[in-house]
Amino acid sequence: MRKIAIVGFKGGIGKTTTCISLGAALALRGHKVLLLDTDTQANLTVALGLPQPKKSLADVLVKKAMPEEVILSARKNLDLLPSSLSLFKAQQRMVFEMAREEIFEEIFSNLTCYDYMVIDCAPSLSLLTVNSIVYADEIFIPVSMEMLALTGAEQFIEYLKEVARVMERGADIRLIIPTMYDPRRRVSDKVMQLLGKLGPRVTQPIRVDTMLSEAPGEGQTIYEYAPRSRGAIDYARLAETVATLPPLEKTNNYHSQLNQPTNGVKVKEGINDTHHLSRQSEGWGGQNYNNN
Ligand SMILES: Nc1ncnc2c1ncn2[C@@H]1O[C@H](COP(=O)(O)OP(=O)(O)OP(=O)(O)O)[C@@H](O)[C@H]1O
Ligand SMILES: [Mg+2]
Repeated sequence: MRKIAIVGFKGGIGKTTTCISLGAALALRGHKVLLLDTDTQANLTVALGLPQPKKSLADVLVKKAMPEEVILSARKNLDLLPSSLSLFKAQQRMVFEMAREEIFEEIFSNLTCYDYMVIDCAPSLSLLTVNSIVYADEIFIPVSMEMLALTGAEQFIEYLKEVARVMERGADIRLIIPTMYDPRRRVSDKVMQLLGKLGPRVTQPIRVDTMLSEAPGEGQTIYEYAPRSRGAIDYARLAETVATLPPLEKTNNYHSQLNQPTNGVKVKEGINDTHHLSRQSEGWGGQNYNNN
């Protein structure tokens, strides 16, 4: 199972939209996908049009339920392990647990039937976000087309270095996903140019599309609400990029990772404490996405 965390410091940059739309697109490609909601806002449940669940990730964390008892079937190939407000309390309990950063590893060890787990994170440095980062093999950072979002992404990459240093574990920032790209706004192209300098691979942008903001209100994925929309097309293309990424080298040994190349950017305290780059061009060359 590929474990992907969709993370970012800043609120409203498209994390949840990316989680659900990428998950739905991967499911439509025939992959078995589990969405994991670690945000107490519990947006994924509503966006998928599911009723408020009786149990949530909180019950799994405090060992009152097995993941299998909590997971909801959302669509064909698409399941959800929902969040709830009570995650706040569960999180407080986690603070007192030993080896808390390995909790996800432990509680999800039996989930073997999925091809992908896509984790939606809150825009905060909660314990759950740290757990998600440590647990995931791949980190995707959405960045909306604002200068502040770009700064947030830079800060977040620095923060990941810190996490790697403290946890003694590398984190692979595999993709930076530009979101809400609007060709009519000059700032979009400016941010796109600067994103290329951050280091990790930058995907083609997800264009701004009101359909993407309307779909969750109807409890539908973009493929149900507006299957021919720009949003649907862009997330299908992202799913293709994700599905065809070369496999990650499987190693959890922090020290053995130090000299190994990676498919993305391995963020860790290593030689000169710099990012180790192995960039693959996504073909972004300032194309105009004006045409639908
Ligand atoms: N490409 C897009 N075009 C238009 N609207 C979008 C796009 N992507 C996301 N949105 C809208 O922007 C808002 C913020 O997106 P989203 O909830 O995905 O961000 P988030 O990073 O998960 O926010 P939070 O940090 O609060 O969890 C939502 O209303 C969403 O519908
Ligand atoms: Mg969100």
